[in-house]
Amino acid sequence: MYTQSFNVQDTAGAKPVALAPSKEDPALQAAFDARIDADGRIEPQDWMPDAYRKTLVRQISQHAHSEIVGMLPEGNWISRAPSLKRKAILIAKVQDEGGHGLYLYSAAETLGTSRDQMLEGLHSGRAKYSSIFNYPTLNWADVGVVGWLVDGAAIMNQVPLCRCSYGPYARAMVRVCKEESFHQRQGYEALLVMMTGTAEQKAMVQDAVNRFWWKCLAMFGPPDADSPHSGQAMRWGIKRISNDDLRQKFIDATVPQAKVLGVTLPDPDLKWNEERQHYDYGQIDWDEFWSTVNGNGPCNKERLATRVKAYSEGEWVRDAAMAHARKQQERSTMKEAA
Ligand SMILES: [Fe+2]
Ligand SMILES: [Fe+2]
Repeated sequence: MYTQSFNVQDTAGAKPVALAPSKEDPALQAAFDARIDADGRIEPQDWMPDAYRKTLVRQISQHAHSEIVGMLPEGNWISRAPSLKRKAILIAKVQDEGGHGLYLYSAAETLGTSRDQMLEGLHSGRAKYSSIFNYPTLNWADVGVVGWLVDGAAIMNQVPLCRCSYGPYARAMVRVCKEESFHQRQGYEALLVMMTGTAEQKAMVQDAVNRFWWKCLAMFGPPDADSPHSGQAMRWGIKRISNDDLRQKFIDATVPQAKVLGVTLPDPDLKWNEERQHYDYGQIDWDEFWSTVNGNGPCNKERLATRVKAYSEGEWVRDAAMAHARKQQERSTMKEAA
């Protein structure tokens, strides 16, 4: 769902990935560059520079981790959804996020990194995932706001990824984006219903918007001036639109939706700029963002502990599936020999 961490190294203080094109084989490098220039796709069997491969593994695995950690804040609400209809919708959404994680782990595996390696990175705390999930969902309106704003921001980020130069990632994103659009709409619709309710319900929606608005703007990542790796990702056709441009598109699309809903976005500087034909907006608190990225958000420890527990409790399922696959293999080998 969520891609804010693209330009963030997994390990604090780690050496940055070398961004210079590989010189190991000039002919292969030239063919790769020509395909990128022609807006073609790179497939798993194709030669690619090491830095391109490493950048993609980092980006896709961070994206996969974000999907499965993103199941947690909403999964919390399945047992407390206010009606059978809302429960069924929420179960479907949370299940979709699990599916997104699985497509993305598979896409990253085509680059030669195993799922075990990626999960080890997540469970040890070395790998990043979108920081938005390190905040709590305190009331039912938060579930609606996560759908409307968090999934809405995810769609802005992810639609351009359907044209990513790496084929398996781009193809996975086509289906993911269709499902994200359902997530966004179900959240917005749940909020529209709450806004026809009591004064308390309306206040819950406003409170949830107040708490999530700025964090959603930060999901697009640091300002372009502070994103040194973005230029290379653009050159490679991995990233198509800059962080600031995506953020602006999201704000411009969301302000009219907030008006229809009847909520106030918590930014006194949010104003239409006739000259720019965009909304101006206030300062994002990047210190708070980095503090959360670096492990100090309100729920970082809880999210990781929940993931690690789920993984260790699922060990017997993985073992049973492997044992079953081995038996099937043995049976078909015996049949062939007979
Ligand atoms: Fe998702
Ligand atoms: Fe989603």
